[in-house]
Amino acid sequence: MNTRHGPRPALGWKSLLAGCLTLSALSTAQADALLDQGKQIYTQGIEGVPACLACHGAQGEGSTAANFPYLAGQSAAYLQEQLQSLADGGRQNAIMKPIASALSAQQRQAVTAYVVSLPRPWDPVKLSALAQTYPDAKDAGAWLANRGDWSRQVPACTQCHAAGGVGVGEHFPAIAGLSKTYIVEQFKLWRQGQRPNGPGELMGDIAKRLDDAQIDAVATYFAGLPQAAATGAQP
Ligand code: HEC
Ligand code: HEC
Repeated sequence: MNTRHGPRPALGWKSLLAGCLTLSALSTAQADALLDQGKQIYTQGIEGVPACLACHGAQGEGSTAANFPYLAGQSAAYLQEQLQSLADGGRQNAIMKPIASALSAQQRQAVTAYVVSLPRPWDPVKLSALAQTYPDAKDAGAWLANRGDWSRQVPACTQCHAAGGVGVGEHFPAIAGLSKTYIVEQFKLWRQGQRPNGPGELMGDIAKRLDDAQIDAVATYFAGLPQAAATGAQP
C-alpha cells in the first residue's frame, strides 16, 4: 500500500513535502514560502478569493451538514485536478467555479500544499479495520462497497478507494465520511456528464451501471463509516 495512508513518518512534514512536490526539487525555504502562501489563501483568502476555511473548515474537515466536502486527506494531485475542472467548467459547481477560476496555477499549488499538511479528518487505521468485517449480504450498501455488484459489472468501491474508503495514492480519492448528499450529487454529475470521469473514465462508467437505490445505499454506507469507526458500531 502507499505510504500516504500509513502512519506519519517521524520526518518533519516540511522536509517531506519538499521531497514530494513533483514539480521540481524545492528547497526547504521555497517549500516554506509555498506553505505560507497556501495558508494565507486557505485561512484568510486573497483579492477576489474567499478564505477556503469558511466552507471547508479550519482543518480542511469540511461540513457534513452543509455538504462541503473535506479537503484534508486528499492528495495534492487530486485536489489540483478538481480545481482545474471546477475552473474550466468540466466539473460543474456554481459555488466553486468563481473561486477556482480566480486562483492561478501557482496559487492552486500553494493552497493544496497547505491542505495536504493538515491532519486527516478521520483515523485511516480504524476505518480500514472496520471495513474488513465481512458485510451482511442484506446490507446493500456495505455489500456493494466491499464486494461490488458483478451482475452489473461493478467492482467493489474499496478496490479503488481502499478498505474503509480512505483513498489510494494520488488519483483515487478518499470517500469515507463525505456527506451522503454530496456523494449522491457526484453520481448525478457523472451520469449527466457534468463532472469528468477521472482517470480511465472509471467513475462515469460505474455511475451509469448503478441504479438510484444502490447509489443511495452505498452513499449512506460511506457517509456513516467514520462515525461507525469512532463508536465501534457496525456501519
Ligand atoms: C462558499 C463556500 C466555499 C468556499 C469559500 C470554498 N469552497 Fe471549495 N467547495 C465548496 C462546495 C459546495 C464544494 C462541492 C462542489 C460539488 O458539490 O461538486 C467544494 C468543492 C471543492 C473541491 C473538490 C473536493 C473534492 O473532494 O472533489 C476542492 C478541491 C475545493 N472545493 C477547494 C477549495 C479551495 C482551495 C477553496 C479556497 C480557495 C475553496 N474550495 C473555497 C464550497 C466552497
Ligand atoms: C475502478 C476504480 C474505481 C471504482 C471501482 C470506484 N471508484 Fe470512485 N473514483 C475513482 C476515481 C479514479 C475517482 C476520481 C475521479 C476524478 O479524478 O474526478 C473516483 C471518485 C469518486 C468520488 C468523488 C470523491 C470526491 O471527493 O468528490 C466518489 C464519491 C466515489 N468515487 C465513489 C465511489 C463509490 C461509491 C464506488 C463504488 C460503487 C466507487 N467510487 C468505485 C475510481 C473508482
